[in-house]
Amino acid sequence: MLDNHKRNINYLRVSVTDRCNLRCVYCMPKEGLSQLGHRDILSYEEILRVVEVAIKTGIAKVRVTGGEPLVRRGIVEFMALLKDMEGLRDISMTTNGILLEKYAKDLYESGIKRINVSLDSLDSEKYRKITRQGELSRVLQGIAKAEHIGFSPIKINVVAIDGFNDDEIVDFAKLTMTKPYQVRFIEYMPIGPASLENGFRSLSNDVIMDRINHVIPIEPLGENGGTDGPARLYKMRGAVGTIGFISAISHQFCQSCNRLRLTADGKLRACLLIDNEVDVRSPLRNGCTDLELEEIIKYVIINKPLHGGIRCHKNQRKNCTRTMSSIGG
Ligand code: 5AD
Ligand code: SF4
Repeated sequence: MLDNHKRNINYLRVSVTDRCNLRCVYCMPKEGLSQLGHRDILSYEEILRVVEVAIKTGIAKVRVTGGEPLVRRGIVEFMALLKDMEGLRDISMTTNGILLEKYAKDLYESGIKRINVSLDSLDSEKYRKITRQGELSRVLQGIAKAEHIGFSPIKINVVAIDGFNDDEIVDFAKLTMTKPYQVRFIEYMPIGPASLENGFRSLSNDVIMDRINHVIPIEPLGENGGTDGPARLYKMRGAVGTIGFISAISHQFCQSCNRLRLTADGKLRACLLIDNEVDVRSPLRNGCTDLELEEIIKYVIINKPLHGGIRCHKNQRKNCTRTMSSIGG
């Protein structure tokens, strides 16, 4: 359905857990996080009920996120149930890839064909530094396995950080010469508590584009394949894969934002950057009817804010006090 600003809200991002097997520097503060208890997070049944009702309001696309979704027990069975749900035309997952090698086959058999993997460095030392504990080889093996099994498209999310991985941009882009991946550069957004301590600066996608162009020219994809959600798509000459630019800071895309988020603890969040949330966990546990649930979802959609205010650093930090790991990106 349309919100108050005539945007068609048809995409729901579902965070199934706030837990993660990594501690990315831009996502979590270094002392870690107090994690939600078992009772605090929505059960799979509760999530499925929210999705079922959300479909009635026009949600047709669901992405499962975390924390790290693959650390939640029963995730493969949950994906299969989601897949069976009538009215969804697109189901996918965003993972950090650490457990992908283990789960790729089962996930694929559950019916999920698309996957996004977060990967910010191709250098194992730097990867460990940014994730505080991750092993790069596991992610690379996970991606290779996903490709072998048949996942398509495989999207690789690279958060571009000035002074950290700007020297790896061309290496990431070159992956697309031989691999059918969509490598997506995401401008780092300094939001949530972690942004106050890591000192990171975002790197504009225009700079990234320039650097790639110096090595191998990139061309925008034609009219039909030109965009993919917030990503603007390009291709290196002669490449198999594509390059996407998600310019959250330099080119805001709030005016075409079609998404709603469900946090692991059962809050509907209309904007990534604004803490206004509506609780669905209590109504669910207090026996609300489907109609009442639908009214809540519609209320959140209708009142989705026009802008998240990403350029205004002070405000946005005030407006978003949650960590990315508890929202799901
Ligand atoms: N800025 C930009 N992207 C981020 N992600 C997590 N935190 C940030 C941030 N502060 C990315 C993750 C993942 C996706 C869900 O969001 O790397 O790929
Ligand atoms: Fe985990 Fe993703 Fe946050 Fe990294 S960015 S700590 S992988 S939830």
